[in-house]
Amino acid sequence: MSQNPQNIQSVLNETRSFVPSLKATSSVPDMATYEALCAEAVRDEQGFWARLGRENLDWHKPFTQTLDESNAPFYRWYGDGLLNASYNCLDRHVLAGRGDVTAIISESDSGVVTRVTYAELLARVCQMANVLKSLGVQKSDRVIIYMPMSIEGIVAMQACARIGATHSVVFGGFSAKAIHERVIDAGAVLIITADAQTRGGKQLGLKLVVDEALALGGCDTVRHVLVNQRTEQGCDMVVGRDLALEPLLAQQSTDCVPEWVDAEHPLFVLYTSGSTGTPKGVQHSTGGYLMWATQTMKWSFDITAQDVFWCTADIGWITGHTYVCYGPLSCGATQLVFEGIPTYPDASRFWQMIERHRCSIFYTAPTAIRSLIKAADMDEQVHPKKYDLSSLRILGTVGEPINPEAWMWYHKQVGGERCPIMDTFWQTETGGHVITPLPAATPLTPGSCTLPLPGIQAAIVDETGEDVENGQGGLLVIKRPWPSMIRTIWNNPERFKAGYYPEELGGRYYLAGDGAVRHSDTTYFQIMGRIDDVLNVSGHRLGTMEIESALVAHPMVAEAAVVGKPDEVSGEAICAFVVLKSAIPEGEAAVKLANELREWVKHEIGPIAKPKDIRFGDNLPKTRSGKIMRRLLRSIAKDEAITQDTSTLENPAILDQLRTSVV
Ligand code: WTA
Repeated sequence: MSQNPQNIQSVLNETRSFVPSLKATSSVPDMATYEALCAEAVRDEQGFWARLGRENLDWHKPFTQTLDESNAPFYRWYGDGLLNASYNCLDRHVLAGRGDVTAIISESDSGVVTRVTYAELLARVCQMANVLKSLGVQKSDRVIIYMPMSIEGIVAMQACARIGATHSVVFGGFSAKAIHERVIDAGAVLIITADAQTRGGKQLGLKLVVDEALALGGCDTVRHVLVNQRTEQGCDMVVGRDLALEPLLAQQSTDCVPEWVDAEHPLFVLYTSGSTGTPKGVQHSTGGYLMWATQTMKWSFDITAQDVFWCTADIGWITGHTYVCYGPLSCGATQLVFEGIPTYPDASRFWQMIERHRCSIFYTAPTAIRSLIKAADMDEQVHPKKYDLSSLRILGTVGEPINPEAWMWYHKQVGGERCPIMDTFWQTETGGHVITPLPAATPLTPGSCTLPLPGIQAAIVDETGEDVENGQGGLLVIKRPWPSMIRTIWNNPERFKAGYYPEELGGRYYLAGDGAVRHSDTTYFQIMGRIDDVLNVSGHRLGTMEIESALVAHPMVAEAAVVGKPDEVSGEAICAFVVLKSAIPEGEAAVKLANELREWVKHEIGPIAKPKDIRFGDNLPKTRSGKIMRRLLRSIAKDEAITQDTSTLENPAILDQLRTSVV
């Protein structure tokens, strides 16, 4: 498990409790209501989910079946209902007379602010949908989106949803190889991209990465690349294949009848890292997913028409899907979208933007908070107390455990001790929040995501699937299906079944892949980190295998093993142990090679996968049967004394070498 055991102990001993003072406007006002909802979900599971399905969404044809378990774990929800996600996010608000409400306030890296209303956004989505149709994109086709955090990116996603095409967004920081893998696995017919994105004052080419990806070959399914022109930089265009987006949009009508799809129709496939080799395409449905995106906006964030909601996640991650593209729009809310980075022009950018746009709900990652704490400690001018943050009423965090000190700072310095913090635990696979406090109801403990949402039967079990007692660590599972859960892994149903519904647990519980423990008194959940070989670096999921494969693809590398080590800012940092084909270089030459390997990994996967530490060794610590002993590598990475039994080790001398060779 990736978290430091000492941290876990200190969090479990955490006795501070913050009783909510917020008055909920639209959601759950107190714990009694929360408990009544949980009881309803157990007493009448189908009735409960059917009610939420009807309350949260507009159906073109209402569903009559709620949950179909006949082919478990391939569950079906609202199976005979017909709907359209983009209709629910746009048309229904315009038809209800709310077309003039601001849907998105977008701020560019350089500070240019653009606003669109729901009526304008609907018109733009329709034009984009018509462009897609004019290029022959049909229902069920897959479309890759490689775009910056922008209105255009959201329009592209919504337009796919409107015509029933399944989108697969690739994070703008991922490499050509990552795009290539996803294009092939998804069998994409079209790629939507931009010439470049601007972040931190720098223009980073996107289209040229797509060109590189397609040049790797085998992407015959791709007919066109649509290019949104965002900068003066421009880009090369391949005649016949590449098309400038803006002139095509201008020719299209602002009306487009939505394609009504089954509730189970795949809205999107989002690739994420697992414990083995290639990233897996997590497939989500339309009905169940959108229901939960909408419901959790109400429950976890108490969203109202008066709020200005800001989720800082990129659309390339699940958080940007559920809490930027779909949840806020489905609720008819006003949200802020930001293309830049928190530290440009300086580390007060977030606080300035909250002040400027009177943001009331702010949702970000612990890693961002930790880096802004550091910056504020060093420079008073970027401290949140210098800014008027009085518009805030609710704060949120996501992606990794938040340490109690960072929680306290967020609470005091950003929230003015007034705003409850929603520590939302969830995953790409869960579609939306699963364990999280409710802003007006749940007493908060720093560092704990508290209790499951109503309907989520989260539990902690041992390796055989038996419940463990509170206070005992174990595997986090969800015992009953829920509407927004992963449906399958694209192209790989066996991997879905084996990975998430393993035989060892009787094949009946969803296995989250995290270790957790429940507090003996409060029964609150404490997440202890991944139990598999998945790292969490700045809230981003990366498989150790992916990074290892990238390293061994370098001509000088014979073998590599990657582990995580705790890091003050990024939560976890990547530490790579590398065996070279030739002799280990020394001094400057070693530093040079280490940097070359970092650049190599950046090129193979993306900058977020660059190893922080690299250690060269003549070999890796292995058992006599040749298995790499990763727990020893984890101790070395942390500079800890090795207390584990090393008697099964084939080559004990290697430990000393690896210990001293950090570059
Ligand atoms: C971790 C992000 C502790 C966890 C939405 C999970 C968290 C993985 C929290 C999923 C939290 C997410 N507290 N850990 N509040 N939220 N995690 O798929 O290890 O990018 O399994 O989804 O992030 O990462 P993913």
